[in-house]
Amino acid sequence: MIFSQVHRFAELDSTNRKALELANQGAAEGTVVVARTQTSGHGRKGRAWHSPVGGLWMSVVLRPPQVEGLTLMASLAVVRTLAKFKVGALVRWPNDISVKGLKVAGVLAESRLLGQSVDHVVVGIGVNVNQTEFPEDIRDLATSLRLVTGRECDLHGFEQVLLHELDGLYHHYRATGPADCIRAVAELSELTGQRVAVETEEGTVEGVVRGLTATGGLELEGGQVFYTAERVRRAT
Ligand code: BTN
Repeated sequence: MIFSQVHRFAELDSTNRKALELANQGAAEGTVVVARTQTSGHGRKGRAWHSPVGGLWMSVVLRPPQVEGLTLMASLAVVRTLAKFKVGALVRWPNDISVKGLKVAGVLAESRLLGQSVDHVVVGIGVNVNQTEFPEDIRDLATSLRLVTGRECDLHGFEQVLLHELDGLYHHYRATGPADCIRAVAELSELTGQRVAVETEEGTVEGVVRGLTATGGLELEGGQVFYTAERVRRAT
């Protein structure tokens, strides 16, 4: 298990920021940072990530040969972990994990390149585990493991299972590349068959999602493929 060196904090601004700092100082692949709460947790596009006590806020340092598919690999690890806790979850491209349409977790990969090659990637994972309430702006969009199951979950136990799942998937990813993870996530894609609006810097495109491509892009009926988006929302 490469994820054996765990740095634990009662409070951090962001586990991703701390893990990036450690990685810059040479921390080994597999270094893990966990905080009980984050004062400045962040998600994609610099959005704030609400991180009270009760959730799992964790980042891991990786030194992979490439970055393609890493976010999806981590999302797959979260889905598999939730399955072990008897919760069926799906992946909402590009980096959300959802249960019955509500967001239960998010993944944020931040990387540092040295020239053309990857020096390190920090994969941050936030899981709403035991929260029972959310701030007003996300109340109708978010859920937690506890709200879904009706039971408090052992946070440390959840973390252990997630690290185990990540370990297995990451070894496979390193050995064979991202294709298998991407294929597995494509089977778990919440958006497939849905009419969506994909908001990009160039504008918004509406269409029905055909699925994920072999390289992890979001493909619409008609063949248009997106590798990044500001936001993807359901369209009616
Ligand atoms: C997203 O939904 O945009 C991704 C959210 C990622 C949140 C996690 S919580 C642990 C780690 N530290 C952060 O500041 N962000 C990630």
